[in-house]
Amino acid sequence: MTDTVRCCVFPVAGLGTRFLPATKAVPKEMLPVVDKPLIQYGVEEAAAAGLTQICFVNGRHKQAIENHFDRNVELEQQIAGSGKELLLEGVNGLMEQCRISSIRQLQAKGLGHAIGCAEPVVGNEPFAVILPDDLCVNPGGDGVLAQMVELYKRYQCSIVAIEEVPMDQVNKYGVIAGTEEAEGIYRIEAMVEKPPVDQAPSNLAIIGRYLLTPDIFELIRQTPPGKGGEIQITDALMKQAEQGRVIGYKFKGLRFDCGSVPGYVKATNYCFENLSRPD
Ligand code: UTP
Repeated sequence: MTDTVRCCVFPVAGLGTRFLPATKAVPKEMLPVVDKPLIQYGVEEAAAAGLTQICFVNGRHKQAIENHFDRNVELEQQIAGSGKELLLEGVNGLMEQCRISSIRQLQAKGLGHAIGCAEPVVGNEPFAVILPDDLCVNPGGDGVLAQMVELYKRYQCSIVAIEEVPMDQVNKYGVIAGTEEAEGIYRIEAMVEKPPVDQAPSNLAIIGRYLLTPDIFELIRQTPPGKGGEIQITDALMKQAEQGRVIGYKFKGLRFDCGSVPGYVKATNYCFENLSRPD
């Protein structure tokens, strides 16, 4: 098994029901934050971390995601020489820098199952997972995934990004219990998916960034449906945690939950004020 993390998996097969009616015909990941779809922020973060193999785990009716990372010859011809080509430079650069592929999750059986679908692309290598509705930024510093890739070199085990959330919000997340080994770095002992507030082991919530060792695929296969009848990645990760092989990392930067309307509005305001756009 190589040490180099090359592949980033984007599970995007969910139905985005919290964002209806916007997500009736438009994938959640294609909703724009200012002028860029959420998925592009995620792929930019992966590319900035040096990951050049991008794998979408997609569902039916969400081809707009793949189309965004393909040429649109008619459009390009239309805007050639108008100056507007500049607006496509970012996404075109990603298409050149990365090898982008896509695989189908035939049934939405949960995040763990979706990650398992990527095995034929990932193979026997450590890999990253980004849930693009968690938009992460770290102005002036390395992106969250880049921070995790760096940490992987030291720990060589699975890493999940964690964040302190208000105690009354823990029931929306996977929540960890662990021992802080170094500042912001926890050796995870337990993980509970969306626990009732009074049963949560802490307020340290797992957010949508993971770095996983490939033995996770076999563990996912062995994982029965859990909370909500879905195959949960936290249940599969718990088996690695029992052997002391999962780190929780309090990342540097900000996260916006763009799967919810309030988080999406906050992200939009933040990006409008703080991130530049070519005019
Ligand atoms: P969510 O729990 O946010 O579900 O999934 P969702 O469908 O995207 O949104 P809501 O809750 O209905 O509003 C977390 C991530 O896992 C992916 C989703 O696309 C999202 O990126 N996922 C979830 C899959 O790819 N397949 C699944 O079977 C479930």
